This record gives sequence, C-alpha cells and structure tokens, in this order.
Amino acid sequence: MRVYRATDYYDMSRKAANILSAQVILKPNCVLGLATGSTPLGIYKQLVEWYKKGDIDFSEVTTVNLDEYIGLAGNDVNSYHYFMKQHLWDHVNISPEQTHIPNGTARDANSECLDYERLITRVGGVDMQLLGLGQNGHIGFNEPGTAFDKDTHVAKLSKATIEANERYFAREEDVPRSAITMGIRSIMQSRRILVVASGVKKSEILKRAFFGPVTPSVPASVLQLHNDVTLVGDAEALSLI
Ligand code: GLP
Repeated sequence: MRVYRATDYYDMSRKAANILSAQVILKPNCVLGLATGSTPLGIYKQLVEWYKKGDIDFSEVTTVNLDEYIGLAGNDVNSYHYFMKQHLWDHVNISPEQTHIPNGTARDANSECLDYERLITRVGGVDMQLLGLGQNGHIGFNEPGTAFDKDTHVAKLSKATIEANERYFAREEDVPRSAITMGIRSIMQSRRILVVASGVKKSEILKRAFFGPVTPSVPASVLQLHNDVTLVGDAEALSLI
C-alpha cells in the first residue's frame, strides 16, 4: 500500500484527483469505480475544474458506482444517482450510457444485483476504484460482519450508518434502511484501489483498517490483501498512522 499524506481536505482532494486523472490519461477508455459520501466531493469539484480547462477528457471513460439506496429513484435528491449527476456527470463530457449505478427502484433488487455484477464484467472490470471509508469501517455499504466473498448484493444499513447519513435527510426515518452495494469481492477485483479519508473522525478506523487484523468486523481491513492500494489522507485522518 502507498500512503500519501495531504495537509488538509483541499490538498487530499487535489492529490486524489491527480491520481484519477493520471489513470484517465494513461488509459483513456478506462473504467472508473466511483464513490459517494462527503469525502469525494472535493475530488469531483477538482476534476470538473480540470475538465473545463481542457486538461482531462472523459469521452471514452466508463464509470460504475459502488452503491445506491433501495427505494430512491434516480431523480430523488438523496439518491446517489442524483449526487453523481449533480457533482460530476452533468459537468463533464461523459454520456449517460457510459455511467452506471445500481437501480434503487428495480422491481427485483436481487436480480438487479446479478445484472450489475454482469455489467461490471461486461465493461471489462474496474481499472481504478475510488473508496471512502465509513466511520465503522464500511466500504460501499458493506457493513461490519459482511462476508468477504460477497458480490453485488442487497445490504441492510447498520444503525451507525443510518445515524451517520441522517444529516442528508430531513428526518432520521427518511434514511433508507437498505441499499444495493458492490460486495467486497467485487471491490477486491478492481485492478487498483484509491482510498480517501479526511478529518479526525476517520483516524481511528484508518488505523484499525490498515494496521489492525484483517477481519470482517472491519470491512476495509480486507484492502490489506489487495496488491495495489493507494491511500490519500489528510493530516487529521492520518494522525494515528
Ligand atoms: C456512505 C457511502 C460510503 C462512504 C461513506 C462515508 O455510507 N455508502 O461509500 O464511503 O458513506 O461517507 P463520508 O465520506 O461522508 O464520510
């Protein structure tokens, strides 16, 4: 694992955006695995800026997102689909057919999971997967206790995750209780993984994930077994490492 120490959130975002841009420059028709949450916001902002300056071209890029809430349609402001459009897709030259995210309102969520897994294979697998980190160590919506061999599946959100994500919704009751998420196995099949973390709230879990035992109780700890992981964290997030 490579660790890049950034001074603050802005620096972390720029370093991570540089790594993603390098991937796009080296392989213009690459498959990027994208993530949501507050951590990647600065990265997307930077990528949009560079696109507008003509420094990055998304015309041949394909994207697959990690996860989506069950029950939220793509036009719901709290859906991850909406988030991606708002923060990246609507501002760069990527056509909607090249962007993929699980359908949270599919009539049969389990068959949506199978279809999504087939889609990842069909596009050739993920070249670089961007990952944020839940405070409880989750990646995507793979909550503590999730088996490492799961493909895309329906996941029940833990109490901690519901509470952490509550800030985006009007009321706690509005936070969906389940989601479709790429599984740990799907994530581990990505050729390269880029983890980003910011803030003191992530320091403890970062230490446990990357320097503690590899265990399903800390889902991100599985990343210790991947051979190409880059971690970009700011000073606060890396303060215990
Ligand atoms: C959500 C997402 C994760 C994300 C996590 C952390 O639960 N499903 O993919 O990594 O939140 O979010 P944040 O970056 O806001 O701390």
